[in-house]
Amino acid sequence: MSKTKTILSGIQPSGKLHIGNYFGAIRQHIAMQEEGEAFYFIANYHSLTSLSDGEQLRQNTIDVTLDYLALGLDPEKATFFAQSDVPQVTELAWMLGTLCPVSLMEKGVSYKDKIAAGLSPNIGLFTYPILQAADILIYHSDVVPVGEDQKQNIEITRDLAGKFNHMYDGEYLVIPEEHIVKSVAVVPGVDGRKMSKSYDNTINIFAEGKALKKRVMSIQTDSTPLDEPKDPGTCNVFALIKLFADEETQAEIADKYRAGGYGYGHAKKELLGMIKEYFGEARERRRELALDLDYVHDVLREGSKKARERAETVMEPIREVTGIVRHFKHV
Ligand code: ADP
Ligand code: TRP
Repeated sequence: MSKTKTILSGIQPSGKLHIGNYFGAIRQHIAMQEEGEAFYFIANYHSLTSLSDGEQLRQNTIDVTLDYLALGLDPEKATFFAQSDVPQVTELAWMLGTLCPVSLMEKGVSYKDKIAAGLSPNIGLFTYPILQAADILIYHSDVVPVGEDQKQNIEITRDLAGKFNHMYDGEYLVIPEEHIVKSVAVVPGVDGRKMSKSYDNTINIFAEGKALKKRVMSIQTDSTPLDEPKDPGTCNVFALIKLFADEETQAEIADKYRAGGYGYGHAKKELLGMIKEYFGEARERRRELALDLDYVHDVLREGSKKARERAETVMEPIREVTGIVRHFKHV
């Protein structure tokens, strides 16, 4: 029998989760909890590179946990925790940093993109991939499900694990595979660009009522008049409909577009109904969970315990081989 695979992924708690995050990451995380030993964590240290409001970060951490639980994460199957509850991560990150050439970080595209988008060029942002590598390597992860945009960070992780094993001449770290989530390409935002919280063009998973309606109605479309035929292939509303509707419904709506007499307003109303229906149960579950925050804290506490235990078994031989002696026992 083959060994159970360790699956790991992280999500930054830097804002409200949107349907791009859902179809691009969360849905696959939840599906994969059935496929191996899954570890999912809230990358709160990573969020410090872009968020400096403590109250906000604390709240986002609880919100993301509520979101995942409501959307189907089962804490009996997957270990869910906060990055900062596993101190071995930052310990390993430092060690990896000592063998990471500066030039490897200088090639990082995501650093350049973030600077171009206006984030402050701090050392934390520059060495972000080293902390991410430690996140992955500290659990001996085999598979890392991430979006296309994370590909380079996984390559850096593999590179650093190889360097470490070579330097200390042993299999101290497992070289992980990436698992690029391919089921959807890029989910467009209301302005047609990639949906992203940095563009303020998101439709949030748990938006509701007037706010949700306003967002959906604001999706940009061209100005083809109502009676004229329309091309579903170039329409942002239809691109979003495709995420929610089965194939038959998609084909019916595409026919209505092509026939004319069907306006973008009609399509938006259908989409709004689909979003409400699709996330309806999760929304209900989230409301209930939010009334029981003790349970949410318990999930994080239990998760961090399991994650720390695993991290410690990986870290012990690493301390030994690097000669880092601890003169007292801590957890
Ligand atoms: P944001 O761009 O809103 O800051 P993140 O970079 O925090 O989102 O992304 C978290 C996860 O969600 C990543 O795995 C990323 O690949 C995925 N993701 C984010 N936006 C989209 C999108 N528009 N389409 C598909 N996947 C997305
Ligand atoms: N960089 C990832 C993102 O922005 C979040 C992340 C941090 C992560 N550490 C990780 C993802 C480890 C996978 C594995 O989406």
